[in-house]
Amino acid sequence: MSLKFWKPGTAGPGSNLDRATEVEGNLVPSAPLYSSLSIQSQRERLPIFKHRQKLLYCVEQFGVIIVVGQTGCGKTTQLPQYLYEAGWAAEGSVIACTQPRRVAATSVATRVAAEVGTILGDEVGYTIRFEDVSSKERTRILYMTDGMLFRETLVDPLLSRYSAIMIDEAHERSVYTDLLLGVLKKIRRKRPSLRLIVSSATLDATAFLDYFTDSATPNDATIITLEGRMYPVEVAYLQEPVPDYVRTAAEVSWNINLRQGPGDILVFLTGRDEIERCLDELSEMLPTLPKNAPRLIPLALHAGLSTDEQLKVFEPAERGTRKVIVSTNIAEASVTIDGIKYVVDSGYVKIRTYNPTTALASLSTVPTSVASATQRAGRAGRTAPGVCYRLYPQAAFESLPYSTPPEITRVDMTTSILQLKSLGIDDLMKFEWVSSPPAEIVLRALEGLVAAGMIGEDGRLTPIGQQVAECPVEVGIARMLFNSKEHRCGEEILTIAAMTAVQDVFVIPEGAQGALAELERRKFTAEEGDHLTLLNAYNAFTRYGRSSGWCKSHALSFRAMSRAVSIRAQLKKYMQRFKLPLESCEGDARRLRRCLVSGYWRNGARWVADGTYRSVRGNKVLHVHPTSVLFTRKPRSGWVIFHEMEETKKTQIRILTEIEPDWLVDHGHKYDNAKKGTS
Ligand code: CDP
Ligand code: MG
Repeated sequence: MSLKFWKPGTAGPGSNLDRATEVEGNLVPSAPLYSSLSIQSQRERLPIFKHRQKLLYCVEQFGVIIVVGQTGCGKTTQLPQYLYEAGWAAEGSVIACTQPRRVAATSVATRVAAEVGTILGDEVGYTIRFEDVSSKERTRILYMTDGMLFRETLVDPLLSRYSAIMIDEAHERSVYTDLLLGVLKKIRRKRPSLRLIVSSATLDATAFLDYFTDSATPNDATIITLEGRMYPVEVAYLQEPVPDYVRTAAEVSWNINLRQGPGDILVFLTGRDEIERCLDELSEMLPTLPKNAPRLIPLALHAGLSTDEQLKVFEPAERGTRKVIVSTNIAEASVTIDGIKYVVDSGYVKIRTYNPTTALASLSTVPTSVASATQRAGRAGRTAPGVCYRLYPQAAFESLPYSTPPEITRVDMTTSILQLKSLGIDDLMKFEWVSSPPAEIVLRALEGLVAAGMIGEDGRLTPIGQQVAECPVEVGIARMLFNSKEHRCGEEILTIAAMTAVQDVFVIPEGAQGALAELERRKFTAEEGDHLTLLNAYNAFTRYGRSSGWCKSHALSFRAMSRAVSIRAQLKKYMQRFKLPLESCEGDARRLRRCLVSGYWRNGARWVADGTYRSVRGNKVLHVHPTSVLFTRKPRSGWVIFHEMEETKKTQIRILTEIEPDWLVDHGHKYDNAKKGTS
């Protein structure tokens, strides 16, 4: 392989520092690190253990504790347990720990349940959207997504069942983390007994301290820094940029396995598609693995995995084998995997972005930041000295921004603002933001909410706005559910809402060929587009299938389908609560599509002759995702709405449905482009 790395400081560009020569020929198989230790002694070996007394003392003395410590030192798994052991969950109160990511909440809860020695869902549980593995009576330590805790403030504004709340991964600055910090600051004024722990993996924690320190509460907050040992990590850069970092990541991992000493490999890519492609590349190489090299075990880590699949990642590699874990950003700080010695960093991350001018939200793949690259490299040095291979030149590193801006400054705020209003926070200017969202984003959200009849001209929530705020879905989807009354298609809209809430419904089953899977998928295809195709798949599943065998033979994911059934049941309860009729459209796809437009009114697009689309707002060039049933076909009317947009090298739209352009005009905004150029 011709890839050349060089390490700054030790050698200049041009010298081949592939490190092959630095490793003695004998490859020692990686040994499980802690496998022989009891759980209790593992706990005591964590860097945080030394600080146990001090932490508990500070929780007694201060209302807000900001805990800074390297990833892996034990914050997430240990702190809630310390509080529990010290009696903070007495008399039925609960200790909460929030995570920005679903996978982190479930995997950490699983681990902590094992440490406490309880069944998951009993003393230790988790709550993520549409999935509650906890007991109202018995759960004392509750891991949850930050979004779920924020939602809970809508029904219990003082979060009265909690004695202590840990806002974990605060450095990630997810929207809900920011909103929670703001709301919790308010709550603590009314309920000072509530303890707040803000935990962060990076050192710029003084911003949080300043935020919680003001004239009213001068001595309420403190910072505790957990010193943790970090082994040195050598950093190697590619000499030249590569066209395909996914392929390169596979090749570099392969070479590490052949040439480097023991230790597992962690690869950072941006999403599930890339991860699967990288694993495919590795699997193809596997048959050529020399006999004397460690057996390579490729594993994926991303949000779409089942709990069992996640656990495989944490299991120590057997003797004579080496794990290569191909992960999204989740392994950067949210979860800790022991035994990693090599990190392969693509240098990219997928983030949510929003353009207030066009009101289009999307997922974008962008270069990481210095903070993030450093954090990724650190994953290699937790248990021994390690190496990080950055798949880009050093010059590219030097031009990275220091950190990624907080999410609240770059996402659509429509749903969040509706929720804030529902909490009685009418004056958004007075809300104590950790970082204020840009005025343009707030205005655009308010405008949309007023146009949709959810906020009145006086700036207050309307009764319908109040109900929509309580629905656990985005405003657009909620609006669609409410409008199904008018279009008489509640049954079908409910199913579509559930199906779009799960990901990766269509799969290519192991062993079968892609083309066969494609044929199976075509059986569900609706001419009108992907939403109705999803509806067909759901109806077939509930009518004939409901088994993993049936799903397998129809190229559907059983897990995703089962989840959709459960989500639908939960959303149905909301429909019933709000007295929305569950009528069927009786096959009248027109009614159904009109109702879809009422939810996706901002996501309209027009077909152009080269097979791409232009967004109604902003006239952006859009490509259809290859999984769409409209991938190769022009919609008869020339117009579609789409569920989501993703920006990589080009902008792709997913889950499309054909519509009539006139339908867009009734909804909230006037589209100047809507009537133009219907070629
Ligand atoms: O939150 P922080 O990054 O400080 O660390 P943590 O997530 O509490 O992890 C502490 C230790 O628990 C890790 O170093 C792992 O040894 C172990 N752990 C594990 O084995 N399996 C998990 N699913 C999570 C943590
Ligand atoms: Mg953690």
